[in-house]
Order: sequence, then C-alpha cells, then structure tokens
Amino acid sequence: MANAYTDRKLSARYPTDLAAWKSLAKHYREDMRERTLTELFSRDKKRVARFGLEANDLFLDYSKNHLNATTRKLLVQLAKQANVPAAIKAMFAGERINKTENRAVLHGALRAKISDTVALETPGVPEVWEVLTRMESFVDDVHSGKIKGSTRKRLTDIVNIGIGGSDLGPVMASRALKPYWRDGIRFHSVSNIDGTQLADLKRELNAETTLFVICSKTFTTLETMSNAKAARRWVVEQLDEVAVQYHFVAASTNHEAMDDFGIRSDFRFGFWDWVGGRYSLWSAVGLSLALVVGMDVFKQILSGGRRMDLHFRQAPFDENMPVLLALLGIWYNNFFGAQSQAILPYDNRLERFPAYLQQLQMESSGKSVRMDGKPVRCDTGMVIWGEAGNNAQHSFYQLLHQGTRLVPIDFILPAKSSGASQAQQNLAIDNCLAQAEALMDGFDVEGLEPYRVHKGNNPSNMILFAELTPEALGQLIALYEHKVFVEGVIWGIDSFDQWGVELGKKLAADPRSANASTLSLRDRIKRLL
Ligand code: F6P
Repeated sequence: MANAYTDRKLSARYPTDLAAWKSLAKHYREDMRERTLTELFSRDKKRVARFGLEANDLFLDYSKNHLNATTRKLLVQLAKQANVPAAIKAMFAGERINKTENRAVLHGALRAKISDTVALETPGVPEVWEVLTRMESFVDDVHSGKIKGSTRKRLTDIVNIGIGGSDLGPVMASRALKPYWRDGIRFHSVSNIDGTQLADLKRELNAETTLFVICSKTFTTLETMSNAKAARRWVVEQLDEVAVQYHFVAASTNHEAMDDFGIRSDFRFGFWDWVGGRYSLWSAVGLSLALVVGMDVFKQILSGGRRMDLHFRQAPFDENMPVLLALLGIWYNNFFGAQSQAILPYDNRLERFPAYLQQLQMESSGKSVRMDGKPVRCDTGMVIWGEAGNNAQHSFYQLLHQGTRLVPIDFILPAKSSGASQAQQNLAIDNCLAQAEALMDGFDVEGLEPYRVHKGNNPSNMILFAELTPEALGQLIALYEHKVFVEGVIWGIDSFDQWGVELGKKLAADPRSANASTLSLRDRIKRLL
C-alpha cells in the first residue's frame, strides 16, 4: 500500500523550495510585515465573517491574525504543495507514516465507528471495539460493586500511575470533566520520579478502597515502574500479597512485564504499537478516566474526536480548522520568526490543557532532521506554554502586552460555566474578550508616558464553544492532534517518534557519568545528604 505521500522523494520536497513558500516570503515582506491588525480590520468590513469558521461544536475566530485573503490562499497552496491531502489519506489508511519506528499512526481508529472502516486490515484495529467492550464491563462492575477490593470493600479511589502520555491525558481530561465524576469515585495521579505524590496520597487513601491503574505502553518506564512498585509495597504492607490482584489493573502492551508484576489477565487492557503515547488517551490509557466519569462519558469524548476527524478529512482546506491552525502556526513560526505560542483557556477546568498540548506539540514537532534523515532547513516546533484565565493575566500577561516578543495566542473559551457560577464565567468571558482586544488594539494617547503605552498588534485565535462537555473536549484534543500533524507534514519531519526522550530514558536507567561537573555535583550532593 502506498500513495503520493509515502512514495514521494522527500529530499526534493523541502518546504522552503515550494513555490507557495516563496510566494509567502514575498507576501510577508511586501504586504504583511508592516501592516497592523487594526489596519486590516479597518480595510475590510467583512473581516470577521471572512475569517471565522465552525467545525462541529467549535467556532474559530481567526480574524485577529496577520493575514488577509491572499495569505490564506497562499497558505492553503503551501499545504497542497507539501502533499498534506495525501498525508491525511495515508494516516487514516494505516500506512506506516511513522517512518523511524516503522509504524502506522492510527489514533483515529480508536475513536472511529466500525462502519467508518478506518484501516480495518491493520493488525489490532479490529480489536479496538473488543477492548472498549471489556473496558465498559470492567468500569460498570467497579461502579456496581461487582468488582471489589480484596477485603470486599467498594473501590472508590482511582490512582493513575503513568508519565508523559500515560499521565497527561487522564489527568487533563479528568480535571476538565470534574462535573461528570461519578458519585463516590475520586481520581488521583502519580507520575513524578521523586515519590512525593504517592507519599502524600498514602496519607489520605485507604488501601482497601484504592484501585491503582498502571498506565504504561512499555511497562518499563523508570518513573512509572518505581511508583508502581512503591504502590505495590504499600498494598502488600497494608493488606497482603493476594491483594495485589484486586488493587492493580494495567493498560499496557507488555504482557511479560505485567505477568512479573502480578496483574491478572482479566485486569489487563491492551493497545497497539500504532498508538503513540501522546495520542493514547482514546485507548486503554483512558481507563482511569473512564473509571471516574463512566463509560458513557468516555464514549462521548471518543465521539467528539471522531467528529473532528470527519471534519479534518472532509472540509476544504480554507474551511478546515486543524489545517488553518497549522498554517497560522507555520506563518508565525517560519515567516514572522515567532518562537513560542501561548495557550490560554478561560475555564480553570482546563488548567492542565496547556501542559497536555506542550507534550503533544513539543514531543511531536521538536525535531531537526526530516524523515529522510536530512537536516531541516527551517525552524520546526515552537515552544508551547500557557495557563488558565485570570491566573495567567496576573502572571505573564505583562510580557504579552509590553514585552518585545511576538507570541501568537490561542484563547480557548466556553460560554457556559462548567458546573459553577454563570455570573463568574461571565466575568471570565469579559476578561478573555477584553484581553484579546487590548492585545490587538493596544493603548496609546497623546502625551502618555512611554511605560504606559501598549503597542498592541498581538495576534490571537479565539476558539469558542458552548460548554466544556466531553464531546467538546474530544473535539478540542483532536483539533490540536491534527494541527500538529499538518505542520509536521509541511516540515517533512516524523511527528510521531520521540528519540530525544528515549536518550533521557536510557540515561536515567544508567546514571553513571565521567563528566567533571556531574561528578563534582554528585560529591556535593553526598555531603548534603
Ligand atoms: O516521554 C516519552 C514517552 O515515550 C512518551 O511518549 C510516553 O507517553 C511516555 O514516555 C511514557 O511511556 P510509557 O507509556 O511506555 O510508560
């Protein structure tokens, strides 16, 4: 199976060689570099309608960006010349587009309906629905009390043990969907290596009512295995060895390691090599989340992801939300020279969404060689950072308003309160809209002291939706997954490997070093202990 994307001669396809890239460079220099956002608004009365679009439950207003109709046309040409249409087809057809690991990339299959026939012939894909059904009966049995702890008490506290993609997704989504938590069930997480998270949890949890979900594709990751072993020791201390079989469940692909740990076979939920860590929330990695919100809600997240997939695969590029976000990213990154992008959600329930997108975007796009092994000839992933709502305003907005850096922003704004006070959400809305406007318009009047001047002209997207429902969350996540993919295709990089992190894993496993600075620091640490 092959198509124009996987067949193409990558060396002939540096994005900087494409005609559209060259036109964009000229357009930037001659038309856009000096043109302010306020000027763009005053020249085009229909700007808001022209640069806004709906995709399912999400609305994107991208009018506050440094672009006009020509920019959009050239950016869309760039995506086409870089073979993005063929790449999208290749991904959903199950081609091995993760070249360096020789793997397909099929998180889309995890949220598809069987009738969508997404890569059904790829090994593992037909099992997706079996695993979902097994997850469903497990989750229901925990909720009904059919599955209990070793002392026959109900399991009420779910502790996700994982790191990276095996932690950030469940943590981010469980916080985002707190109003959907089942009565009497609580979510906790343990990820970091130093052991403090588990130490604190042990003080508040009762082993008899705690279920640990060990989430690890490889089941070898140092942080996860140290925490899982510490949790196991605690359960054995508090209860007994037999209790391990009642209080540990796992999402992993490594059966041998699960055998060694003592995970019983009906408490194992598998996934496949074509599910990347940072794309895995949709798989059994979502088990801890499903245990807290219930399987119906989990399926609504999947449905949201699927609806974004359909939009991504079907919408023309100039009306395609992930494609447009990706193209705007490239525009600022590669033409305006922006080095970072801020993600600013105005709903505290999305407080971990910037961290989630940090892994998604920086692990995917932090690459400097192309899929053909040659160095890239332009910048790739930007630094992604952010914080929720007014907490961010009182922290780093000073730099956004008056600093020297160009920082394109994605504001994320639900209209309705997420299960709290609408009056307070209205205040969040007022703040969000006012900030976007002030960042664009700036503030200056005659005679104003220079330190009070806000130069304005800062670009932003506004992603607006009615409410932070499981469906909307699924759409948001898939929106960014596809945005990252499109950027990677244009740069010619492998967005689905993470060799830079693999080195860290190796070093952590064997921390010996002959480096003089490391040795001296080790000495000093010894003296401090
Ligand atoms: O951070 C690197 C990484 O490989 C991520 O991609 C992954 O989410 C994480 O480590 C955890 O890996 P595992 O699920 O195998 O424990």
